[in-house]
Amino acid sequence: MNTRRSLPNILICGPPGIGKSTLANLLEEDTELNWIDVSKVAIDTGCVSEYVEELQCSILDGNMLVKLMENWMKEGGQIVDYQRADLFPPNWFDAVFVLRANDTILDDRLHKRQKTEKKAKNKPNSNVGAEFFIIVIQETQDSFDSEIVHELTNNVPEDMPINVDRILEWIEEWKKDNI
Ligand SMILES: Nc1ncnc2c1ncn2[C@@H]1O[C@H](COP(=O)(O)OP(=O)(O)OP(=O)(O)O)[C@@H](O)[C@H]1O
Ligand SMILES: [Mg+2]
Repeated sequence: MNTRRSLPNILICGPPGIGKSTLANLLEEDTELNWIDVSKVAIDTGCVSEYVEELQCSILDGNMLVKLMENWMKEGGQIVDYQRADLFPPNWFDAVFVLRANDTILDDRLHKRQKTEKKAKNKPNSNVGAEFFIIVIQETQDSFDSEIVHELTNNVPEDMPINVDRILEWIEEWKKDNI
């Protein structure tokens, strides 16, 4: 892929419920970038291979999704919001932001969300966030140049504007270097 883009592509990844979509939504409002909520897009466009009753969710068809997103990524200016870091070609991204939170905070958040959504029948495992974070960090280390990977803490509501500002500053720096 031609890496000269007029706007950067960024990946926001991390455990379920960590705040990826909240952050991506705020960034979309504050920038010219376009937010792609990958799980939603996959379902809306039929890029799913099967539905797993036990987990009450669909399994993504990664190949189909990558093909679908290729042209959008070529244009640049995409905020890709997805839990994992290893589904996409690494050269799609100019920066990767991995969100993390304190274990108990994230567990509480997931329990709260589960109660509201009444989504899954089983209680989510404790420490799911910490374990997930380790997997995602490993994936980013395997796939991306360490210079483009940034960790952001997202424990409390006050962290959100700090994270938005950090990414906005990064975008401004990127523009200075690339436009
Ligand atoms: N910094 C924060 N402090 C407190 N609550 C937060 C914070 N960030 C997000 N939340 C809340 O956590 C919940 C999950 O956030 P969000 O939907 O953005 O997570 P997500 O990472 O996109 O999850 P998923 O992987 O399931 O799509 C929401 O109710 C959101 O309001
Ligand atoms: Mg989300």
